[in-house]
Amino acid sequence: PISVILDCDPGIDDALAIALLAARPDIELVAITTVAGNVPLAATTDNALRLREFYRIDDVPVYAGADAPLRREPVFAGYVHGEDGLGGAPVPAASRGVDDGFAPEVIIELLRERPGEITLVAVGPMTNVALALRAEPKVAQWAKAVVLMGGAFTRGNITPAAEFNFFADPDAAAEVFHAPWQPVLTSLDVTLRARVGDEVMTRWSGYGPLSEQLLMPALANYFDNRAAGGVELELPDAVSRGGQAPAIHDACAAAYVIEPGLFTALPAHTAVETRGELTAGMSVVDFTPHGEQASNSTVLTEIDTPRFFALMSEAFETLSTR
Ligand code: BDR
Ligand code: CA
Repeated sequence: PISVILDCDPGIDDALAIALLAARPDIELVAITTVAGNVPLAATTDNALRLREFYRIDDVPVYAGADAPLRREPVFAGYVHGEDGLGGAPVPAASRGVDDGFAPEVIIELLRERPGEITLVAVGPMTNVALALRAEPKVAQWAKAVVLMGGAFTRGNITPAAEFNFFADPDAAAEVFHAPWQPVLTSLDVTLRARVGDEVMTRWSGYGPLSEQLLMPALANYFDNRAAGGVELELPDAVSRGGQAPAIHDACAAAYVIEPGLFTALPAHTAVETRGELTAGMSVVDFTPHGEQASNSTVLTEIDTPRFFALMSEAFETLSTR
């Protein structure tokens, strides 16, 4: 199996990334680590604990990490994910608490024990990953691969320039691209093609308690378009990038680990703006790097949406029969 540490801030789409990894027999989920992001750390951690039991992956440890960005004031996205982070979905309370250990330190130890074996998947602000790299730069060589959900090569979502995960902690994101590894960037331009439209919603309503207690209520309350005040905007596709239905960004990063062939990937040089007044957190992606700007990342540029949703449906099917 492919061994994975998932660093996340659940988060409705984070919850679906966990579901995908939890369902697959070809994935060994080594640990789930949490970070402040969509909602404060206490809530992202509590959600990870609830989901661990809900998906029946009781042997997977959950470790809490950073409760604030490296330098900036926290920004949350409760208006997208609900104040609880799961859109008010009635996932039962957890009976077990968080495991002992600070996520960045645990990430270091797990990678040190099994160099070259574990893929690190980070789908929240990059704070834990940056703290791990600061404390032990060898993390960059010990990780088998690092797959991020964050950034965009055209435009952002929380601001016109920046995607939420990078905007929430631009310094951390910038440090991740300075390390000597080749992060895979599951960019917003790809994840906005993974929108849960009416047809998928109908398909996903049939998984019993998984649908009733999580998928239906969470997705119904997942407002990627709140920024537009809930108003239906008539935007050309090149601008809306696939309409207004909610996109399950983080599940795309998990899907890449399982089935990279679902995506088109290009080498590129990626840097993250940390200071810009209008552009903080912006990922500046150069697909034609040269000289000192040699490629330092792999950027996903396209997704096979039908196959992605088939993979998700299969995972829900598996989880619903557990
Ligand atoms: C990212 O921001 C969060 O709101 C989502 O969970 C996802 O990780 C999308 O910009
Ligand atoms: Ca997330």
